[in-house]
Amino acid sequence: MLNEGKKCLVTGGAGFIGSHLVDALMKKHYSVRVLDNLVNGNLENISHHFNTKAFEFHRGSVTDPVDVGRAMEKIDIVFHLACLGVRHSIAHPFENHRVNAEGTLLILDSAYRNNIERFIYCSSSEVYGTAEYVPMPESHPTLPCTVYGASKLAGESYARAYHKTYGMPVTVIRPFNTFGPRSHHEGDAGEVIPKTIVRALNNQPIVVFGDGSQTRDFTYVVDTADALVAAVENDNIVGETLNIGSNFEISIKNLVNSIARIVSNSTVRIDFIDSRPGDVLRLYADSQKFMSFCGWKPNIEFKEGLKRTVEYFRNHPIGIKNLLKDEVARNWEV
Ligand SMILES: NC(=O)c1ccc[n+]([C@@H]2O[C@H](COP(=O)([O-])OP(=O)(O)OC[C@H]3O[C@@H](n4cnc5c(N)ncnc54)[C@H](O)[C@@H]3O)[C@@H](O)[C@H]2O)c1
Repeated sequence: MLNEGKKCLVTGGAGFIGSHLVDALMKKHYSVRVLDNLVNGNLENISHHFNTKAFEFHRGSVTDPVDVGRAMEKIDIVFHLACLGVRHSIAHPFENHRVNAEGTLLILDSAYRNNIERFIYCSSSEVYGTAEYVPMPESHPTLPCTVYGASKLAGESYARAYHKTYGMPVTVIRPFNTFGPRSHHEGDAGEVIPKTIVRALNNQPIVVFGDGSQTRDFTYVVDTADALVAAVENDNIVGETLNIGSNFEISIKNLVNSIARIVSNSTVRIDFIDSRPGDVLRLYADSQKFMSFCGWKPNIEFKEGLKRTVEYFRNHPIGIKNLLKDEVARNWEV
């Protein structure tokens, strides 16, 4: 193992993807420190590591120089995932920019001053905006539709600038949509798959924005986490910007019908309502570059991933009725 024993900082490590990344790193005997302010993260996602010597949790913000300075001490590798989400950016553009763009600049600068060995910036397919052609390679134009996409692109640009100006060993990863256990159904963090599962499990109408012809390329979260680990274990991709996706495109209409079938609720009503502002119409990754560099490919087939996610919510300790209380249909208005 290339980096065994190295000390990783995972910003946003109490969140959905971050907590699965922590699991993957711990399994491979890295030592892990999480920096998260818990605005959307949840300690339950990482509490199974609390009694492990190789794990530390720091509650703090990526926008606070003191928190960042402390979190960066004696770190070898940084995975920067902390951010505020796409729907949050619609009502709160300045706060979204401050965390996603300025927070990234602060993390990069601190990492540079601490001579870190590798920096993985977790970007997003939202930097592309709607596909002009598919599948989308990394050279596809980057014309984000939302402040979130724009702020993630700013973060990428800062990361590449630290590589070019200061020689910092940065890799930019652009995951396409990710789903699975610990994904958000609640408030403005809520994503289409968990929101739909929670509604279907409660026999409530499923809500689709627009006509449901929008498409996405979904990867199961354990595969996304493994891809981020594969990225840090490959020194040939320093300075690169790489997509991670499943090379599989599905419309939102077909997606919600698949969920309804898995929940055994194929009679559930689907309400088609107004489109979400800034909604991207089509996303479909070309991940060949990452796959050939890192030898990674997704292991969990989409339907199997959906079944596991439905089971996660069905057995959620909060109970499916209580989960529904936190689900907000037009969640960009929160
Ligand atoms: N979920 C997806 O489909 C998807 C797709 C592409 C890219 N991404 C990227 O993956 C990363 C993780 O996303 P996620 O879906 O796990 O979201 P998430 O909201 O679950 O994780 C983000 C974490 O960052 C934390 N955070 C927010 N502001 C912070 C701050 N100021 N200081 C410290 N921590 C802060 C939150 O509490 C949360 O735990 C993000 O960078 C996101 O852009 C996600």
